[in-house]
Amino acid sequence: MSDMPFDSSVFPQRHLLGIEGLSPVDISLLLDRADEYVGLNRSVGGKLDTLSGRTVMNLFFEASTRTRTSFELAGKRLGADVINMSVSTSSIKKGETLIDTAMTLNAMHPDVLVVRHASSGAVKLLSEKVNCAVINAGDGRHEHPTQALLDALTIRRRKGHLDGLQVAICGDILHSRVARSNIHLLNIMGARVRLIAPKPLLPAEAERLGVEVFYDMEAGLRDCDIVMMLRLQMERMESNFFPTMREYFHFFGLDYAKLQAAKPDALIMHPGPMNRGVEIASDVADDIGRSAIREQVEMGVAVRMACLEVLSLNLVHEEPSVPEEVQDELEGDEA
Ligand code: NCD
Repeated sequence: MSDMPFDSSVFPQRHLLGIEGLSPVDISLLLDRADEYVGLNRSVGGKLDTLSGRTVMNLFFEASTRTRTSFELAGKRLGADVINMSVSTSSIKKGETLIDTAMTLNAMHPDVLVVRHASSGAVKLLSEKVNCAVINAGDGRHEHPTQALLDALTIRRRKGHLDGLQVAICGDILHSRVARSNIHLLNIMGARVRLIAPKPLLPAEAERLGVEVFYDMEAGLRDCDIVMMLRLQMERMESNFFPTMREYFHFFGLDYAKLQAAKPDALIMHPGPMNRGVEIASDVADDIGRSAIREQVEMGVAVRMACLEVLSLNLVHEEPSVPEEVQDELEGDEA
């Protein structure tokens, strides 16, 4: 970790709502900074006070293990106060709207709100109503920017670069915000993306995303450097896309036989949670030589530290506006 103070003002964004719209410089800045935190995270008792006095609120309207915990750890490693709002115990259960909840939390002056929501666009909407920084921790099928950043950091550390790599993203692309953020990031950074999925699990606009589309694993995996598997998101499916899980695994599940088509040193990735035996065989997922799945989780903390740091140090708190009549009254009282 360098002792140089970090000049966060070079990151021009107030919020991190998606990868789309970021520049290669923005992305490299976050990845470089995250890379510096990996060592700190491996050291016993490694903790900084960069964000001491700052408050990070985790607001998760959808289930999460990795993302929520790693944001919490990231904030704590940087010395911030971290508050976790669980939807099951909050007023959202009592019918409070997304915006009312956001306004309530905003009134407590957090520095960063980390939000996950089931609807695409909900996090952006919320960011327009609050005066703190907002990080999208996954909104519907739209974006999951910190996942794409941690995937990129994992790849960059293993392969040394992102540009020119052939990356295959396989499985339920239709419902995946992870796929969408990764497609943006990999395209921006000069990698080449292939999507492999059965037709019903591909978004209609797939061909327009600057990717190559394959309906067959063997053809799609041929000579690729990275194999990124995605979970079948049953909870977002209105109808049965596949007769049986066995059949899905037969055609689209990653096993050693299908992996033969990829480069011999191809890296296996999965954002988690995994459905073993559905989109990926257990022995492939646990192959310590080839699978980077655990490393992805580790990189998640470092990437979220970089994002929290960059956005909170950029923050200039706006004074809450006091209505004129209240202002007059206050001034009158003082007199
Ligand atoms: C993903 C998500 O929630 O979008 N998980 C994660 O954040 N690691 C992918 C998924 O749920 O399958």
